[in-house]
Amino acid sequence: MAVGCRAKPAPNESARAGTPERPWVIGMSQCNLGEPWRVQMNADVAQAAAQHPNLRVVFKDAQNDSLVQRAQVEELASQGVHLLIVSPKEAAPLTRPVAEVYAKKIPVIVLDRAVQGDKFTSFIGADNVKIGRAAGAWASSALGGRGKIVELEGLMTSTPGQDRHTGFHAGLGEADARSVEVVFTADMQWLEPNARREMESALASQRRIDLVYAHNDPGAHGAYLAAKAAGREKNMKFVGIDALPHEGRRYVEQGMLDATFLYPTGGKEAVDLALRILRGEKVEKKIVLGTRLYTKSNLARGGEEIP
Ligand code: FRU
Repeated sequence: MAVGCRAKPAPNESARAGTPERPWVIGMSQCNLGEPWRVQMNADVAQAAAQHPNLRVVFKDAQNDSLVQRAQVEELASQGVHLLIVSPKEAAPLTRPVAEVYAKKIPVIVLDRAVQGDKFTSFIGADNVKIGRAAGAWASSALGGRGKIVELEGLMTSTPGQDRHTGFHAGLGEADARSVEVVFTADMQWLEPNARREMESALASQRRIDLVYAHNDPGAHGAYLAAKAAGREKNMKFVGIDALPHEGRRYVEQGMLDATFLYPTGGKEAVDLALRILRGEKVEKKIVLGTRLYTKSNLARGGEEIP
């Protein structure tokens, strides 16, 4: 009987991967699965990958802990994945682990929240400054240029939180805001229960609130519930970001939110880009995804694009 097995893998072993028999393995490091948006991102990745029999994805959930995520990124690299997709919890703690994987010549796609510097292959995400600016302009015009605003921020050690804040204030300023004022700001760390608690403090200290801008829809929903419990929800407007069909858009439909801006997960785009990288194509360093505005009046026609 012929003995056909090799003692050692051929040096170009990984170059020969990418077939249904020996699929490319993508490691997907997700910062948490406690929020519907991230569950959707993983589903989008899984669905896109399922179209390609020559790809397999290994998912890791860091449960909203940067140290756990760092360990999982290292673990995926040492398991020999062909490419890493990472959606980091926070920029600073994930910067080095990502750079180390990249230095090992494993391509890295950073998805949605950024890391610092440029030691990764590509970044994919929507423009959070632009989304924030559109939210600011919308808020200012919905208030007729006059009113008191509560801002519930996403985690300010993550880049979307920082950018959605900066953009919003720029948007308020650009519009003809005679006297729009942010009277209460708190970091709700992207989490609905925190947003609800922070909104309770805002309601206790502010006799007048005309609009709540939350950096994501769970935050806006938490604020709405707090205002409703205090019997004040009809006195103010609620604006969020994400616009998942079964979350933010449904809140708009139900009249709980007045506006939400689409924040695409980028899951499909990440898989498409991964394939191009694995096939050896030269790819863009940054891919920016678009956004849309949803309000009750444009929901039925699929919202409107923000140019
Ligand atoms: C989910 C989430 C989204 C938000 C995104 C920003 O973890 O908080 O709601 O748009 O992260 O990175």
